[in-house]
Amino acid sequence: MARITAGVGSSHVPLLGVASDFGKDSDDYFGPIFNGYEWTRVWELAEKPDVVILVFNDHASAFDMKIIPTFAIGCGEQYKPADEGWGPRQVPDVEGHADLAWHIAQSLILDEFDMTIINEMDVDHGLTVPLSMMFGKPDKWPCKVVPLAVNVVTYPPPSGNRCWALGEAIRKAVESFPEDLNVQVWGTGGMSHQLQGPRAGLINREWDNRFIDGLIGSSDALRHIPHLEYLRETGSEGIEMVMWLIMRGAMGKTTRLLHRHYHVPCSNTAIGHLVLRPDNGEGLDMTGSDFAAAAE
Ligand code: DHB
Ligand code: FE
Repeated sequence: MARITAGVGSSHVPLLGVASDFGKDSDDYFGPIFNGYEWTRVWELAEKPDVVILVFNDHASAFDMKIIPTFAIGCGEQYKPADEGWGPRQVPDVEGHADLAWHIAQSLILDEFDMTIINEMDVDHGLTVPLSMMFGKPDKWPCKVVPLAVNVVTYPPPSGNRCWALGEAIRKAVESFPEDLNVQVWGTGGMSHQLQGPRAGLINREWDNRFIDGLIGSSDALRHIPHLEYLRETGSEGIEMVMWLIMRGAMGKTTRLLHRHYHVPCSNTAIGHLVLRPDNGEGLDMTGSDFAAAAE
């Protein structure tokens, strides 16, 4: 049986892709940002996930005003880095897991989540920057990826409550896949930022850190934050954070914190990152040998 063993939250600022690709990741500006992900890069080497369900948003690269799916799942075999204006990033292509993705699509749709199915798309910084932050610069990404795209660009984005419920349904879908797979769920985007208008540059450290606090433990209060609060407190692009709630919903009732990191500024954005372990109530640490033993 496939199992969700961990959840990761991370910002996706495009400038971090530039810093990684042009070797600026340890300079004075980017060093403190990348250092906060070092723990996770080492941890991922030990965790060796087979698949990451990567919840992200497209920024008018694969979709535009012609088609705006609220929730879409990538069921393809491969995704290429998108050209966002300066040519595609020179990072490896992203390998999909079509069998798992189709299984999840079927389970979610029969569970009454009306997913859009995507067989072909290019993936932009929303997906490739988190991969770079967590895995560094390998010749090939170390795991397969099931991209799960969420509309947080054009009003109305889905509610936080709906995102959390989708995460719960993803967990059920993964746990009904017969193959033994070590699966992580990543929620990406955010944290507070606003890229345009009179409030451009808005950052809200206190709110962001309360949001991170709220992902740890057994409270589900975050699912009830209204869109207007994200907009008012975290800027127009802060709504990207509802994607973290899909990851949180997929963790089950309780989570344990393994790692967290917060830094301002990065471009116009506050960087946030955390790693969670789903607490299944049995005190079982779903890593390494425990994972292998549980899979037997
Ligand atoms: C920035 C942040 C984003 O989330 C994004 O999609 C584009 C740019 C930024 O801070 O520069
Ligand atoms: Fe963004």
